[in-house]
Amino acid sequence: MRHGEFRDRRLVTVYDAECPWSRDDDFFLSIVDETPAARVLDLGCGTGRLALGMAAAGHTVTGVDPARASVEAARTKPGAERVTWIEGTSAVLRDASFDVAVMTSHVAQFFVGDDEWRSTLADLKRGLVPGGRLVFDTRDPQARGWERWNPVDSQRRITLPDGRVVAAWTDVTAVQDGGAVSFAHHYTFPNGEKLLSTATLRFRTEDQVRSSLQDAGFSIERMYGGWQREPVGRGDGEFLVIAHG
Ligand SMILES: C[S@@+](CC[C@H](N)C(=O)[O-])C[C@H]1O[C@@H](n2cnc3c(N)ncnc32)[C@H](O)[C@@H]1O
Repeated sequence: MRHGEFRDRRLVTVYDAECPWSRDDDFFLSIVDETPAARVLDLGCGTGRLALGMAAAGHTVTGVDPARASVEAARTKPGAERVTWIEGTSAVLRDASFDVAVMTSHVAQFFVGDDEWRSTLADLKRGLVPGGRLVFDTRDPQARGWERWNPVDSQRRITLPDGRVVAAWTDVTAVQDGGAVSFAHHYTFPNGEKLLSTATLRFRTEDQVRSSLQDAGFSIERMYGGWQREPVGRGDGEFLVIAHG
């Protein structure tokens, strides 16, 4: 199944258990907080961890995601009534309606083709007020993070809220010259049920990130390489991008 962690209810529960609030959420919230009481778009909000945190911090938040099972899970969480949830993509955005847009946990890498990345950036530019901010993370290909997505290094055990423990591992199936990396997550549930989720993510170079943003009419204010605001090339193998329209 493609993108099972977001589309399949059983794996959405696993994703939620595996991805609690962490330092990346602290980073994104701190940037969003620089705009008090902001109207925030969380594009690719998933099950809503950060969207809920931003709403609790006093922002007016809209979470948009095409994966129905994820949006349904988000809607059931405490505080969900504070957020506007939309099952959809950036195409649904109304013009000039957000002060800040975030794409977190590498949503930007889900836009594999240049055309879909370009049209998403155009929608985001359109959806932001003039001067509004776009904030996202995307992995630096120079860190070659996918090399650790192998059956040995990626083995993990995830405890679900009901106490069941799911065993998981990841394996890369293809690395293309243009920076597209395909992989599969394997899950084994305690009853022996096995689920497989496949995906392809795009690793854009710093030049590609910079030029695509510039072409879409954004100016980059800051770019960090790690969650403690390290320079690019140091830190966590990330490009943490803060741009404005
Ligand atoms: C790794 S998850 C991140 C979810 C959430 N932002 C978080 O921090 O947990 C990637 C999300 O991107 C969403 N996604 C995939 N394609 C998308 C698209 N075309 N537009 C918006 N979101 C998309 C997926 O459904 C998934 O929820």
